[in-house]
Amino acid sequence: MEGRGLLEELQAIDAQHIMSTYARQPVVFVKGCGARLWDAGGKEYIDFLGGIAVDAVGHCHPRVLHAIQEQAGKLLHVSNLFYTEPQFRLAQKLTVIAGMDKVFFCNSGAEANECALKIARKWGKRKEPPAIEIVAAEGAFHGRLFGTLSVTAQAKYQQPYEPLVPGVRIVPRNDVCSLRKAITEHTCAVILEPIQGESGVHPLSIEFLRTARECCNHVGAFLIFDEVQTGMGRTGTWFMWQQLGVQPDILTSAKALGGGLPVGACMACGEAANVLERGDHGSTFAGGPLVASASLAAIEAIEEEGMLYNARTMGAYLCEQIALWRERLPVTEIRGAGLMIGFDIAEPVAREVVRVALREGVVVNATGENTIRLLPPLNLQQEEADEGLRRLRLAIESAVAERTA
Ligand SMILES: Cc1ncc(COP(=O)(O)O)c(C=O)c1O
Repeated sequence: MEGRGLLEELQAIDAQHIMSTYARQPVVFVKGCGARLWDAGGKEYIDFLGGIAVDAVGHCHPRVLHAIQEQAGKLLHVSNLFYTEPQFRLAQKLTVIAGMDKVFFCNSGAEANECALKIARKWGKRKEPPAIEIVAAEGAFHGRLFGTLSVTAQAKYQQPYEPLVPGVRIVPRNDVCSLRKAITEHTCAVILEPIQGESGVHPLSIEFLRTARECCNHVGAFLIFDEVQTGMGRTGTWFMWQQLGVQPDILTSAKALGGGLPVGACMACGEAANVLERGDHGSTFAGGPLVASASLAAIEAIEEEGMLYNARTMGAYLCEQIALWRERLPVTEIRGAGLMIGFDIAEPVAREVVRVALREGVVVNATGENTIRLLPPLNLQQEEADEGLRRLRLAIESAVAERTA
C-alpha cells in the first residue's frame, strides 16, 4: 500500500510538472545493493539493466560509497579554473586503462561524443581542401545534442529537430563497400559504436571496423569509437577496441565511468590528443572532485575484484542459459559480448516482457518490439544470475502465452 500510494503521488507530479519525455515503468525504487533493487513497497528485484549500463559495480558499492562520502565532506566544486587532485589522478588512471594519451572530461555520453566531433572538425578544417564530413552508421546512437543527434541515424530521433548539423554521411551498418565509398578526402572522422547498443545490441563486424580504420588512415581522418556503452569493462575488457585490435584515435566513455555519478570522457591519442587548445572547449561541472573520486573508486573496484573476468564468464553463462530456452520459447538470435547482451523473440512481445518481468521481480529493457537487452552489473553473482534468469524466463513464457492464446 505504501508503495502504491507513493507511486500514484509521483505519477501525479510527473503529469503536472515534468516534461513527458520518458515512458516510465510504474515502480518507485528506493534502495539498491549489488545487483538487487527494492521498491517502495519492499519488493525485491534482480537488476539485469544496471541503470542502462551505468551501475557496473552494482548499487551502493562500498568503495564508491566511501569515496563519495569522504570527498563530499571535503570539497564539492571549485570549477576548472583551479586544480583539484581527484580529476588529475583519474586522468592518469583512465588514459592508461583505455590506452589513450589525453582526456577531456565532461558530464555525459552525448557531451563526450560532442567533444570528439569538435576535435575532428577543428582538425579537418585546417586541411586544404577542408575536410568537414563525418561518417556514421545507420542504427547508431551517439546522443541527443545537435551534433551527436546529427550522427544518430534514426529518423524517430532526428526528424523533429531538422535541420541538423550538416556534413554527415550515413552508411548502412556493416556495409563495407558503402563505408569505403563514403570515406573521402572530405572526411574528418568516422564515428562508430563497436556494438550498437540502443538499437538492439548489434555488433559491427570486424571487417567493417578494420575497413573504417584502414580508410581513415588512407585519407587522414580520425576514427572515433563511441564506447559510452561498451566501455568500462562492459564487454569483458576495459574498452572493446582492446579485444578487437582496431585502435581508434578518439575514444569516448560515460555511463559506468562515474560509478553511478554523471561523468563523461573524450579521450584521444596521437595527433588527435593535441587538437583542442586553451579556450576551445569547456564545461563548468566537468571532472569535479566528487564525480572524479567516485570514478576512481569504481575503476579500482573493477580492477581489484576481477570484474572484467566476471563480465566475460557470467556473460557467456547468461548467453548459454538463454540459448537453452530455445527448446521451449521462441527466442531466436542472441548477440553481444561480456555482459552486454541482446536477444530476439520471434513474437513482438518485448515491451510486454519488460512489464511482466517487473511483476516477476527482474529489471530488463526492450530496445524494440522483439529485442530484450541485458546490461547487469559486472559483479553479478551466480545466484543472482540464476534467479534473474528464472524470473525472466517466466516473464517471457507468460508474455508469449498471452500473445498466442
Ligand atoms: C553508445 C552511446 N553513446 C552515447 C550515448 C548518450 O549518452 P548520454 O545519455 O549519457 O548522453 C548513449 C546512451 O545511451 C549510448 O548508448
